[in-house]
Amino acid sequence: MGRIVLDKVTKSFGDVQVIPPLDLTIEDGEFTVFVGPSGCGKSTLLRLIAGLEDVSTGQIRIDRQDATMVPPAKRGLAMVFQSYALYPHMSVRKNIAFPLRMAKLDQAEIDRRVTGAAEVLNLTDYLDRRPGQLSGGQRQRVAIGRAIVREPAAFLFDEPLSNLDAALRVGMRLEISELHERLKTTMIYVTHDQVEAMTMADKIVVLRAGNIEQVGSPLELYREPRNLFVAGFIGSPRMNFIEGPEAAKLGAKTIGIRPEHITVSDSEGPWSGVVSVSEHLGSDTYFHVHDTGLAETITVRADGEVGFRHGDRIHLTPRMDVMQRFDAEGLRIA
Ligand SMILES: Nc1ncnc2c1ncn2[C@@H]1O[C@H](COP(=O)(O)OP(=O)(O)OP(=O)(O)O)[C@@H](O)[C@H]1O
Ligand SMILES: [Mg+2]
Repeated sequence: MGRIVLDKVTKSFGDVQVIPPLDLTIEDGEFTVFVGPSGCGKSTLLRLIAGLEDVSTGQIRIDRQDATMVPPAKRGLAMVFQSYALYPHMSVRKNIAFPLRMAKLDQAEIDRRVTGAAEVLNLTDYLDRRPGQLSGGQRQRVAIGRAIVREPAAFLFDEPLSNLDAALRVGMRLEISELHERLKTTMIYVTHDQVEAMTMADKIVVLRAGNIEQVGSPLELYREPRNLFVAGFIGSPRMNFIEGPEAAKLGAKTIGIRPEHITVSDSEGPWSGVVSVSEHLGSDTYFHVHDTGLAETITVRADGEVGFRHGDRIHLTPRMDVMQRFDAEGLRIA
């Protein structure tokens, strides 16, 4: 079991409140991702759940038990950090077994759990190596193995992949998602990579300055962002925002249109502008379009075959059915 409830939790460091009163429920088995810009309180929130920081006020409940004052080791949670801090002089087997030896489990049980974790993580052939003889991705798997053997009620990940190179990140992202499918254990995952958030999460929690801006499934946040902040944060490249007459025509202060919801043409379309930069990704091309009279830049995501260049005048057609409207407070108009 691993249902986690934060009830009016706050956290201050000295007289600076970094988490204003916050309510959040994470259901048993859910993969929840905390996203938000640097300094918004993601790690602090995770550390409060783990018990590595004390809440200033409020209550944390784990499986209906008040855990607010329970020390970290007794909360039944396992944390995996960005820096995996393995013991360099110990074998992989001993590294994974470490928390179980600390907890004084008997050797047969330790062997059973280490063997099981190694199988799940494809580390069976590496159990007798030392961390120095492993790749970055393998080391991160050992760190996760050390968490798995504890059979926690929930896993807490704080940007576990940010030390890895781009290709490994994608690989590990899939492995962690598969691990969740297999174990069905609650996972809370902190990242500021919104692609990780979109692809891994059952539920995304978008934070800004310690406040929850929105909670929802990836597609809910993509399709129905509550406000300008969420609309701009979820989706890559970022949603285009347009103010002025074009927005007023639709009864909004600001309208938002995603780059993938604009089509380009050399001859027709209600908007037009000049290509300042085209970024060719192979599969897609991103055009950054100036002189539209709408916004400083309009970004368009087109097929990789589309070949406009710097200086070309092009026409743009937004998809009206997915255009978002926002009021003067920045809230989305449903
Ligand atoms: N021990 C501390 N003492 C004082 N302030 C702290 C402490 N820990 C964190 N903070 C402050 O709390 C705020 C939230 O920090 P936190 O580490 O939770 O952010 P984050 O969202 O994890 O950011 P990042 O994406 O950069 O890791 C920041 O303004 C930070 O400076
Ligand atoms: Mg952090």
